[in-house]
Amino acid sequence: MKKRDLISIEDLSNQEIDELFQVADNMLARDRGAGGPKACSGRIMATLFYEPSTRTRLSFESAMQRLGGTVISCPDMKSSSTAKGESIADTARVVSSYADVLVVRHYWDGAVQAMAEYAEVPVINAGDGSHEHPTQTLCDLYTLRKEKGDLKGLTVVICGDLKHGRTIHSLVYALARFGAHVITLAANGMELPQYVIEKLEREYHYSLAPVASDDLHAVVRETDAIYLTPSQPHQLALFTQVDAEIQQRLSKMASGIKFDAFYVTRKQKERIEEGSEGGNGSYPRIGRDFLKERRFKDTVVMHPLPRVDELSQEVDKDRRGIYFKQAAYGVPIRMALLKFLFDSLDKAKSRAGQKKAPLYESPEPIGPRCANANCVTRTENISTRPRFEVLFTGPGGALILKCFYCDHQLKVQYMGHTRSRKYCPYDIALGDTVREWLQHGELAIFDSIKQAEELGYEPYKSGPQRSIMDEAEMREALCRMSEEILKESKDPERLLILGIRTKGTYLAKRIAEELEKRSQKRIEVGEIEIYGAGDDLRSLSPLEGGPSSPSVKDRGVILVDDVIHTGMTVKNAMSIIFKSGRPQSVRLAVLVDRGHREMPVKPNYVGKHIPSSEKERVRVKLREVEQDERDKVVIYSIVSPENSHQRSAPSSNPKADN
Ligand code: NCD
Repeated sequence: MKKRDLISIEDLSNQEIDELFQVADNMLARDRGAGGPKACSGRIMATLFYEPSTRTRLSFESAMQRLGGTVISCPDMKSSSTAKGESIADTARVVSSYADVLVVRHYWDGAVQAMAEYAEVPVINAGDGSHEHPTQTLCDLYTLRKEKGDLKGLTVVICGDLKHGRTIHSLVYALARFGAHVITLAANGMELPQYVIEKLEREYHYSLAPVASDDLHAVVRETDAIYLTPSQPHQLALFTQVDAEIQQRLSKMASGIKFDAFYVTRKQKERIEEGSEGGNGSYPRIGRDFLKERRFKDTVVMHPLPRVDELSQEVDKDRRGIYFKQAAYGVPIRMALLKFLFDSLDKAKSRAGQKKAPLYESPEPIGPRCANANCVTRTENISTRPRFEVLFTGPGGALILKCFYCDHQLKVQYMGHTRSRKYCPYDIALGDTVREWLQHGELAIFDSIKQAEELGYEPYKSGPQRSIMDEAEMREALCRMSEEILKESKDPERLLILGIRTKGTYLAKRIAEELEKRSQKRIEVGEIEIYGAGDDLRSLSPLEGGPSSPSVKDRGVILVDDVIHTGMTVKNAMSIIFKSGRPQSVRLAVLVDRGHREMPVKPNYVGKHIPSSEKERVRVKLREVEQDERDKVVIYSIVSPENSHQRSAPSSNPKADN
């Protein structure tokens, strides 16, 4: 039997969502009681909720009964065989032989996808960890549409815990697909995850621009807003200089915004680790101020509920508070969805099945694992094997693995060929080779040289290295760049030197030392990790009493990297910077500029211009990273791994040069 599951909002096309809404309209219009349609008569729905729920579960159960079906359920999954250590795969297999559809909520990201792989019947995601909650999004879109008409061009402000809120993640993908604009108003440390932003950029051509958030300050103070838009002026985020002129354009843009909806969410405290930083500081709240502001007179307020104290009860009586309606629509929407899934049994192939090929699964007993500690593949390896979508569009041409279950991303360091048992660091020049090996199932990916060598792989050879900058030249270049930076900085104390990990970080430290020597002022240094599992911004020299992640607000940021090539790394770094606040300016300093830019980014300070081809590789060698080596920059060509039969020492640079 072919079945349709609903795991992600991406499993439904826009047209299918439109059709679902029409069916929901019919469900609403008819007598909801005994006279209603009996589309599910004789069918059984099982609800498996591993986390608390009121609305989602009861509205699903109500929907099924209104359609003439029946419901079986476990009152508390802790009292099920889960407590005896049963795997989610076994539970899915067994329960799918008792029911015709499973509705599952779980605390692991990707757990519902894993269960869908073992269940014989359609599976609906009622919320998986911090990942997605597609049926809530259907209710949200349906409500928005009823209130505001077409979704295209609407501006929706999403507020609160954007990091852990699964309702938010499904909602932003859907808003992007329907062409709405999104303003993010995150609580401190709870910004949209970078993997969500990158998906919006990659698949829907959305870009981030910081909004002069004065307009919102009446409602929320101390919060910076980011504007996600599919149209102009989305190039703004790519400017390396947020100067006065751009600032002005941003302010104008912000004052022209019509706010159609505020989507408020609670702090997901059950997902915030004890002792972690998340959740300190101000949290966006909607209350009396909001009701008074004229510019919000037509702005509706939505909330997936339950609310805690981020949404005042004062809004309940106001016509703009539509969250109880939003909850009530849960029944007709879920009636429409159940009918849709049963109607499509044996019919079409699921979108999920169509979109993800080819997936990478390690051919070796050890291989890369998902970077998300809450991913189902990290916690239930009986039911899952790590599988990844392979993306060739990472910063600097980096190769990215995107987890099939939870969508988190990681950067490929080393790759090998299973037949020849050879490995090498990944480089942009090897893109076609990787595609071919992937297709033939001959691609092995490793986290480290150690992993490759433990599996019996040996290094490939690369062409001879030519030195293009020696120790003295590098020192001179860094001194000159530091001098230029200082000359163009009115207030050196406001400078924040941010290095892109790993080599950019060491260069940032060296530049900061030069600046301190020259200005006799304390200069703060921080680090950006583009594909890190932890915080996006880290402080390396926190100012006394300051927080451990540096504040970029109103600072003169100098972004430092070793090599610039396509400009993608810088673009990603910029989006991380803007996500955490609005700096006064961002300037870019690189030791080597290779040319061939894909992004409109121009470095402000360059150590040396070295035009070089795609087949070449430029490596900055730093004494901090490579023991026994002096500082230098070398260039060499990539020898295609298939043509190389000789053995030589492995290249140890883990970072694809940018
Ligand atoms: C949401 C959830 O479970 O993610 N609730 C819901 O389904 N309406 C939101 C929340 O718990 O904050």
